[in-house]
Amino acid sequence: MNFENILITTEEHIGIVTINRPKKLNALNKATIEELHHAFNALDEDENVRVVIVTGAGEKAFVAGADIAEFADFSVYEGSQLAAKGQELLFNQVERMQTPVIAAINGFALGGGLELAMACHFRIASDHARMGLPETSLGVIPGYGGTQRLPQLVGKGRAMEMILTGGMIGTEQALMSGLINHMVAQEQLIPFCMKIAKKIINNSPTAIASAINAINAGFSDNGYKKEIEAFGECFGTEDFKEGTTAFLEKRKANFPGK
Ligand code: COA
Repeated sequence: MNFENILITTEEHIGIVTINRPKKLNALNKATIEELHHAFNALDEDENVRVVIVTGAGEKAFVAGADIAEFADFSVYEGSQLAAKGQELLFNQVERMQTPVIAAINGFALGGGLELAMACHFRIASDHARMGLPETSLGVIPGYGGTQRLPQLVGKGRAMEMILTGGMIGTEQALMSGLINHMVAQEQLIPFCMKIAKKIINNSPTAIASAINAINAGFSDNGYKKEIEAFGECFGTEDFKEGTTAFLEKRKANFPGK
């Protein structure tokens, strides 16, 4: 399969998916989401691949979010479709993979980037990574599962603070709050992920798939539907127009509050 926005390599039964739009800080546009969907499908079906690692190209960003330029003029309907399709095509797909997926967070993981990392089965970050859900600073809310998976990982209070402030946290804080499992030096990130992947590979693939399914079954998915509706509604607000326009014009947003 030929991809324009991602790179795939396989080594010692470990598939490495690298999101490769470094000039746009690996932001997730529609084409990248579709490519990732096909790549994860193929990797999950490939019996030779026993663990998948997903990371971002370059040292600056894992993924700096959904591509803001692509959705700034969307209607309420288009907004809810964006969230619904994205969740189904990529974020739920990653969570439901029968092959374990590790996020190797090599830099900024913001918005859809952190949501992608949170959909992975667990996360390892380099010591200079920064993580956050800045959507409210754009007049919108996380729409790729962030309102559900962040509280699952860090608890309701910490998730509320991160989503309502839209602020970023560093790796140490992320480690302390359970958002990531390990913090390593940048050059150790992929080797460390591979070391953990190799431990997983020693275990039974059928038992691993069953464990993923059983763990996932413990979390209800009603909240995801609510998130899609609420995300879509944001696209009908003046705040959303102001927030996305301000980002694209590289200025601070001045929200009218309606
Ligand atoms: N969508 C679209 N383009 C994005 C993007 C995104 N989420 N994040 C970064 N980019 C683009 C920038 O527009 C810029 O493009 P340009 O060079 O054509 O102008 C390029 O990537 C580099 O980003 P820049 O903002 O210049 O880098 P920086 O070092 O000054 O800041 C960030 C880095 C991550 C703090 C900043 O890019 C940012 O805040 N990004 C948006 C994060 C966000 O809100 N994500 C949630 C989206 S729902």
